[in-house]
Amino acid sequence: MKIVIGCDHAAYDAKTEIVKYLKSNGHDIIDEGTYGLESVDYPDFAASASLKVQAGEADRGVLICGTGIGMSIAANRFKGIRAALCFNEELAKLSRLHNNANILCMGARTQSIDSMKNILSVWLTTAWEGDRHALRLNKIELNSRGQDAE
Ligand code: RB5
Repeated sequence: MKIVIGCDHAAYDAKTEIVKYLKSNGHDIIDEGTYGLESVDYPDFAASASLKVQAGEADRGVLICGTGIGMSIAANRFKGIRAALCFNEELAKLSRLHNNANILCMGARTQSIDSMKNILSVWLTTAWEGDRHALRLNKIELNSRGQDAE
């Protein structure tokens, strides 16, 4: 899978580990940064990764900040992005089954690297259920078009 990844300074170390993990599992990674520990603004990295997913240049995205909250808020402003903040495997599974989440957000200050790897593993291997969930996701898209028209 082609996966775009982004983080802020709070998650730089975690991102480095996660990139290694994803590559070792055969994934093709687009690393949008940040590339060091200097303080940066997470919305910049949420934007660049979200645009890659939106454009179909990446199949999925992974965004990590201190809590994952800022990244998820920022990514969900982009049309077609369904970013899910997941801090356990059950949430990761449900975010795929029900919500067809195309970006996974996690918090480097709130969970361990091992926990993040387990969450990723579930998230990347769980398919969307479709069916009744399709109508609901379509409603989300319609809502976002309404906001654009304002
Ligand atoms: C950065 O200090 C921190 O605010 C950020 O990583 C994130 O947790 C925001 O939601």
